[in-house]
Amino acid sequence: MNIKHVILLMIALFTLVLTGCSKEQDSSNTKSSSSTKTATSSMAGLPEKVDPALADRGKKLYNQNCVFCHQADAVGKAGFAPSLTNQEFLETVSDKFLMATVRDGRAGTGMPPFAHLGRKDVEAIVAFLRSHAKRPNRSAAIDAQPQSMGDPRLGKFWFDSICATCHGPNGDGYAAGGTGTAIGKAGFLDKASDGFIRETIKHGRGNTRMIGYSGPEGLANLSDKDIDDIIAYLRTVPSKN
Ligand code: HEC
Ligand code: HEC
Repeated sequence: MNIKHVILLMIALFTLVLTGCSKEQDSSNTKSSSSTKTATSSMAGLPEKVDPALADRGKKLYNQNCVFCHQADAVGKAGFAPSLTNQEFLETVSDKFLMATVRDGRAGTGMPPFAHLGRKDVEAIVAFLRSHAKRPNRSAAIDAQPQSMGDPRLGKFWFDSICATCHGPNGDGYAAGGTGTAIGKAGFLDKASDGFIRETIKHGRGNTRMIGYSGPEGLANLSDKDIDDIIAYLRTVPSKN
């Protein structure tokens, strides 16, 4: 065990304590998000324009089909359903990912398929979700990032020592009792680009238990190489289950 490993163990313990805490989701980020269009022109630019009529229709459909699990304004509930209006999520996720995830659901998790709604209705729901965005949609550039060339054996070490506490030892997510989603299952991996996974690990998702792992503010300050090792490992997990 070198120093880095000892630090990691401490982080794993710390996250255990975190997850043991109240399961109430902090929804402060999304509470204010209904006032989306009030000019939050960040330095990086403006969020994409959403047709208000379409978003309105999407809101109704959302309240009929999704609100029970993803909660009002899609703020999510820790250990039950993720936030869909989280700013980091909306900034990194593509419409393609959203559309396909809603259509197919995620087999082996609590996320059911909604193919019966049809494309138009799902588009309206996606518009409703997008209407919460305060930042530009960076998903095209993120999905175009290079694929991970990491080493899955090294990635397994990081996954087991840091991620498994919340995402489950096999990435089974809530089913394993954690607060993180099922990132080891095909339902997620088949739709997520390496860039999307990489950005999520690096920067996390504000106001959720998913903290960023990169840079000075990062919890474990994983290097780009470490993160790509984890992605390479995740890609091998579904075939093992
Ligand atoms: C019965 C509960 C339930 C309902 C109803 C439901 N979801 Fe989900 N949803 C979940 C769960 C649980 C997950 C996380 C699955 C996992 O662990 O990977 C999820 C995940 C998602 C994701 C992926 C989020 C991410 O962080 O990658 C999207 C997008 C999503 N749901 C959209 C919807 C939409 C839109 C509706 C309504 C049409 C809906 N869901 C209805 C439970 C539900
Ligand atoms: C303290 C708990 C915790 C730890 C530790 C943790 N995560 Fe997460 N992770 C979460 C939560 C919670 C979410 C979903 C956020 C939400 O509910 O909106 C998430 C989301 C994700 C997502 C997006 C999944 C999706 O469904 O869209 C990825 C990828 C991810 N985590 C990877 C990792 C990796 C890799 C590690 C280890 C380096 C890790 N996480 C460590 C709690 C955690």
